[in-house]
Amino acid sequence: MKTAVFLTGHSRGLGRAILEHYLAQDKVEVFGFSRNKLHLSHSNLQEWEVDFTDLAKIETIMTTIFSGVKADRYFLINNAGWIGEIKPVGKLNLQEMQAALHLNLLAPMLLTNSFVNAFREVPGQKIICNLSSGAAYAPVSGWASYCSSKAGLDMFARVADEDLRPFGFRVFSIAPGKVDTEMQAEIREAKAEDFPALERFQGYFHQGELADSKIVATQLAYILSHPEEFPAVVQDVRRL
Ligand SMILES: NC(=O)c1ccc[n+]([C@@H]2O[C@H](COP(=O)([O-])OP(=O)(O)OC[C@H]3O[C@@H](n4cnc5c(N)ncnc54)[C@H](OP(=O)(O)O)[C@@H]3O)[C@@H](O)[C@H]2O)c1
Repeated sequence: MKTAVFLTGHSRGLGRAILEHYLAQDKVEVFGFSRNKLHLSHSNLQEWEVDFTDLAKIETIMTTIFSGVKADRYFLINNAGWIGEIKPVGKLNLQEMQAALHLNLLAPMLLTNSFVNAFREVPGQKIICNLSSGAAYAPVSGWASYCSSKAGLDMFARVADEDLRPFGFRVFSIAPGKVDTEMQAEIREAKAEDFPALERFQGYFHQGELADSKIVATQLAYILSHPEEFPAVVQDVRRL
């Protein structure tokens, strides 16, 4: 069975681990989208340099790419994300708020919409996975844009799963738990006056509590291969 995986944010972190998981499998072709290419020489990887904060451009690019791919299973993994500006409400800046909301929420919504249009009439299994966060369910002071965008993404997945199940699609919103990536490094560099939980997040790293991205990638891939076992929202893959 041939699988096509469209993966955003493939260049590092969890996305890179997901990429490596799928490139190690037979008959899986990965289409990676980030601002930076990896330039790996692997026959099953095609990469595009895309900035998902630039919404006007991405719809055309993605529609063209989707329409040229033929497989038996199609996965769209909306993984690219940003923690956003870490500051309390009142100190936020419009450009940073827009960038976080575009990347974390509007781009996955737009890609999902284009993916559904491209594959609605195409036979095969069609799965959409949005990377959510515990921050979708619990407020974290200093993360207003991140928490809001992930909460919105979660609800989008729930609605889209209802809309699309009758047409052979499944849509998931999956929170990976705390994973050892550059996003966590960026969190640890926030200013203490803007981020009351700074010491707690530094502690997760120093006490070895961050998950290995390779393990999380394997758990996520299990969900996508067994969609019937899972609801639209999976709040923490570590509980599998
Ligand atoms: N790490 C955690 O503890 C954790 C916890 C909960 C949820 N998550 C979620 O898991 C996902 C992956 O996070 P991560 O920790 O792996 O983050 P990361 O290490 O910061 O990697 C983010 C990825 O997104 C891409 N990206 C960032 N901005 C982009 C843009 N404007 N356009 C296109 N691509 C962009 C980056 O590539 P380029 O820089 O090359 O563009 C990179 O490949 C995110 O959605 C995040 O919210 C992570």
